[in-house]
Parts: sequence; C-alpha cells; structure tokens
Amino acid sequence: MLKLENVSYVVEENGKNKTILDNINLDFDDKKLYVITGPNGSGKSTLVKIIIGIETPTTGNIVFNGISLDGLEINERANLGISYAFQQPVKFKGLKVRDLLDCATGKKNDFASLCHYLSVVGLCARDYVDRPVDDKLSGGELKRIELAMVLCRESKLNIFDEPEAGIDLWSFDNLTKIFKSLSNSTNIIVSHQKKILEIADEIILLKNGKIEKVGSYYQMLPYIQNTQCEKLRGDHE
Ligand SMILES: Nc1ncnc2c1ncn2[C@@H]1O[C@H](COP(=O)(O)OP(=O)(O)OP(=O)(O)O)[C@@H](O)[C@H]1O
Ligand SMILES: [Mg+2]
Repeated sequence: MLKLENVSYVVEENGKNKTILDNINLDFDDKKLYVITGPNGSGKSTLVKIIIGIETPTTGNIVFNGISLDGLEINERANLGISYAFQQPVKFKGLKVRDLLDCATGKKNDFASLCHYLSVVGLCARDYVDRPVDDKLSGGELKRIELAMVLCRESKLNIFDEPEAGIDLWSFDNLTKIFKSLSNSTNIIVSHQKKILEIADEIILLKNGKIEKVGSYYQMLPYIQNTQCEKLRGDHE
C-alpha cells in the first residue's frame, strides 16, 4: 500500500552536505503493523515526516496505493488517507479539544462521539472537551489528545512518532492494546519500546540514515541489541 523508492534526504550544514536518509527502499503492506526503531538521530522522524509531506526528499519517490505522493501537500496526503501523530504534539492556541476532534473527523461531533474518541485514550470527555489545547495541558494529555485525533479519522494509514513518550505505565499497556486492535488500517509506529516492538508484524531498524535490517521481532532482537540502540528499554520508564 505504501512504497518508498530510493528515498534520500540531504541537508546543507555549514556549507557541507549532510546525508540524513540514504537511499531508503521500503514496502509496507496493507493492514500490517510496522515499527521503525533505531538509535537517536538515525533518521526515524525524518523518514515519517517525508511520508506525510512535512519534509521533501532530495531524491526518490513515494507511492501510496498506486498514487505518487511527489508534489502533494500535507493536506492532500491526509485526504488520501494518511494520518500522523507528532513526536512532540503541536499546541493550538485558541482551539479547544472538541474543535480539534471536529476538525479531524471533518464534522461537528455530538458529545457521545467525543466521549467515545476520548475514552479510547483514557480521557473523560466531560473534563477535556472544552479545554484549550495550550501549554496548560500536560505532555501526556497532549499525546493522548493527538492520538485520539488520529484514531477518530479512521485513516487507511496511521503513523505515530514515539506515541509512548510521556504516557504513564497504566496507559502504556492500554496504548499497546489500542495498536493491537487497529487491524483495519496500516500502522507505522516509531518506537524504542520492547512492548511495542513485540506487537509488530515487521520491525525496520534504521542506523545512520540507512536501513540496517527488516524482520520479525525474533529475527530482529539480536540485531537491535547488537546495534546498542540506547533508548531500547525492556520496561516502560
Ligand atoms: N534540517 C536539518 N538540518 C540538519 N540536521 C537535521 C535536519 N533535520 C534532521 N537533522 C538531523 O538528522 C538526524 C536525524 O534526525 P531525526 O529527528 O530523524 O532522528 P530520530 O531517529 O527521529 O531520533 P530520535 O530517536 O531522537 O527521535 C539528526 O542527527 C538530526 O539532528
Ligand atoms: Mg524522532
């Protein structure tokens, strides 16, 4: 459903070229769960930002369900069915939680629907629908609201960048359950967490902007340990 062909991303830094992604070729099948992992700075967030259109690749092509994404803006890619949750969620001053969910679903939601979307991520609608999405929300609350925004869109492809960051232990188990239950869509999760790696159909290990190896959890485990992925933790912190 998603194909990356020879994708590279090179930036200029202090007058020199710096290769952040180096000739990435990947094939994502329909309705599978993929986890992208690898050391800090290996290019994971850059790769997903290229898929959703925040960054433009220097070379290469991305094809989504037979359509080239070349030249398509973020909103055009979203309309094709690609949703994305940032590593660091964006705050929207002046907007309330209900506005974001209405925006995500493209319609005015009644309270019962808002309640459903928020309860999936462990938030009570009564406490949150009228809260502004600003600095007063905690990091974990923001992450959950962003997750709710992605889930309520019911897109064909969901991309989550470190969804576990800032989520407490109780919610982390629920988060894993949510991802396991997403069997009607293709999901790409950037993560360092063992429990999320365990539920992947396929794990993609990035290192220094290159694909080091792709495989199942058990195929990848020795590789991940060998590459000393420093953020890979056995238990959630
Ligand atoms: N526009 C840019 N200019 C210069 N360097 C950049 C730019 N964008 C990204 N980088 C660098 O590219 C590398 C990859 O960054 P990226 O955010 O993709 O890493 P990551 O794998 O998501 O790391 P983490 O696990 O910490 O989230 C980093 O070294 C980063 O500093
Ligand atoms: Mg990142």
